[in-house]
Amino acid sequence: MDQKDVVYVNGSFLPRAEARVSVEDRGFVFGDGVYEVLRAINGRLFATRFHNQRLERSLEGIKISLQGADSPGRFVEIGRQLLKENRLLDGEAILYMQVTRGASTRAHHFPPADTAPTVYISVTRFSPYTDLAANGASAITHPDLREVRCDLKTLNLLANALASQTARERGAFEAMLARDGVVTEGAKTNFFGVVDGTLRTHPCDNHILPGITRSVLHDLARELGIELDETPIKVSEITKLSELFLTGTTTDVMPVVKLDDTPVGKGRPGELTRRLQRVLAESLASGGD
Ligand code: PDD
Repeated sequence: MDQKDVVYVNGSFLPRAEARVSVEDRGFVFGDGVYEVLRAINGRLFATRFHNQRLERSLEGIKISLQGADSPGRFVEIGRQLLKENRLLDGEAILYMQVTRGASTRAHHFPPADTAPTVYISVTRFSPYTDLAANGASAITHPDLREVRCDLKTLNLLANALASQTARERGAFEAMLARDGVVTEGAKTNFFGVVDGTLRTHPCDNHILPGITRSVLHDLARELGIELDETPIKVSEITKLSELFLTGTTTDVMPVVKLDDTPVGKGRPGELTRRLQRVLAESLASGGD
């Protein structure tokens, strides 16, 4: 069957090539907006409730109020419709939802209260990183140059993009961001590490995005009786890491076997990483909606 490419913009379903937003859109001019990325497997969207809650929190955090009947729940329904329209009800797909403060003559302060937010929703085919997940990926450390509200999923991804590009140029999959002597998260992922036999990750504060995969994995680890210590990993502790893995909607559990060109642990995916990789895969296969 041929692949359609229909997206949703401000109340209309239309071909991606015909979708338009204003050049005065505040998402374009100021990066003034928020977004979510969800996973769809065989047409089933994963962890919608958590993504909706996070979108609501991000909207509230930057003071965008949705108008009329719009709500994150409705956006997910539109996402489901797009999966159907685009014939993505089998296999892997990604749902992207973005809300900006709308279009208005450029001024830093907010536009008039009746300015309608811009809503853009799109689905695309997705191929999981199967080989890297099996063999392990490499990562680099990079200064965390982001501002301080990293807990909101905003469109302000410049520091993430620059760090990701540096990683790419060095042949690495991810840049792990370091601030004030601790590693916070990846440019597009959270991460967990094993130090002296203890599984650790950065606590949810304003320096990391509260990842949905991080949270799902936290629960799965607890069910397996694995303790999670939310004490940030210091840069000085990196050499003590016996296992390291990234988590994210598009990365699942991704083992990191090389960090800054030095092997992590034995230089291959660790036991605990493998276990958690398996339980997350099972949860993704059985979960959804
Ligand atoms: N990135 N940290 C950052 C900075 C992220 O951008 C992401 C997700 C995560 C993981 O969050 P979750 O488990 O909810 O996907 C952590 C998305 C996928 C992106 O920007 O494409």
